[in-house]
Amino acid sequence: MKAFVTGGAGFIGSTLTDRLISAGHDVVVYDNFSTGKEEFLREALASGRVTVTRGDVLDQSLLTASMRGCDTVFHIAANADVRYGLTNPRRDVDQNTLATFHVLEAMRANGIGRIVFSSTGSIYGEPDVFPTPEDAPFPVQTSLYGASKLAGEGLISAYCEGYGFRGVIFRFVSILGERYSHGHVFDFVRSLRADPTRLTVLGNGQQRKSYLYVGDCVEAMLLGLDRAGGKVNIFNLGADEYCEVTDSVGWICDRMGVRPRIEFTGGERGWIGDSPFIFLDCTRLRSLGWKPTLSIRDGVIRTVDFLQAHPWLLEARA
Ligand SMILES: NC(=O)c1ccc[n+]([C@@H]2O[C@H](COP(=O)([O-])OP(=O)(O)OC[C@H]3O[C@@H](n4cnc5c(N)ncnc54)[C@H](O)[C@@H]3O)[C@@H](O)[C@H]2O)c1
Repeated sequence: MKAFVTGGAGFIGSTLTDRLISAGHDVVVYDNFSTGKEEFLREALASGRVTVTRGDVLDQSLLTASMRGCDTVFHIAANADVRYGLTNPRRDVDQNTLATFHVLEAMRANGIGRIVFSSTGSIYGEPDVFPTPEDAPFPVQTSLYGASKLAGEGLISAYCEGYGFRGVIFRFVSILGERYSHGHVFDFVRSLRADPTRLTVLGNGQQRKSYLYVGDCVEAMLLGLDRAGGKVNIFNLGADEYCEVTDSVGWICDRMGVRPRIEFTGGERGWIGDSPFIFLDCTRLRSLGWKPTLSIRDGVIRTVDFLQAHPWLLEARA
């Protein structure tokens, strides 16, 4: 495979790039480094199997030229921060929906017909069914992030139907692990390093969430790509368990050896658009032979260890 990875310098994209190289594939990383890090690509570059283009997915001509000669596109670049949608409503539409359209057009221009897309469990909004299956009743959107990703999924499906593409779409829960650079573990570790005596938790701390280790996430993507036979393939991707935010706070504090006073901002949600319960039914992907290897607790602990060993990352995204 000659893979084209948008967002290949980010948390999940760089882990995927390493995994593709270790499987013997060549990779073109395309990234504007808005949140991606050169450091994450150091080992990949040393392999000699990766080329990196610094470019924006919204730059159609550079994107199209850079994709030449590739056969599979992993579209991972996005605005991955769910929380600030309402303060900048254009960003999700540009970075997640329009960007996906640009990727599809670049593929069409290059005669590439295989796309893997990193979507999100946020597209389910606040569902009534748990664990939530892929064919849950069409969801009401509660965040611009979820809405913009669902629109991206829609575009991919229409290109599959209209231009004969094959799409493999993964709806991730929150991902944890090495190179993790945004999300609640990041916020808590950074806050506790600055002041180990107190911690502010958004909401009432009883939000229930599922998480998945990044190594399990990229294995799932490759397995899904390999084994899914349909034109448009949609897979939930998460652990078979969930935890409360307070469980995660406890694991983080234990690992860091701190006993802070915890203050909750209150309410069922951390912010507008935060889903109080995310737990996805992953039977569809599991039936193809995938299963996660790390528990949520172990994933949180690995993430804390990584952030403690790489404090520069905590400062880089302040
Ligand atoms: N991390 C999670 O918990 C999670 C959960 C669900 C879905 N996702 C999705 O997975 C993907 C990767 O997320 P991540 O956590 O690795 O985030 P990240 O911010 O670490 O990675 C995104 C990468 O895309 C690049 N990028 C962003 N906009 C770009 C643009 N316009 N042009 C070129 N490059 C651009 C960034 O520089 C970065 O390297 C995203 O699509 C995200 O929506 C992530």
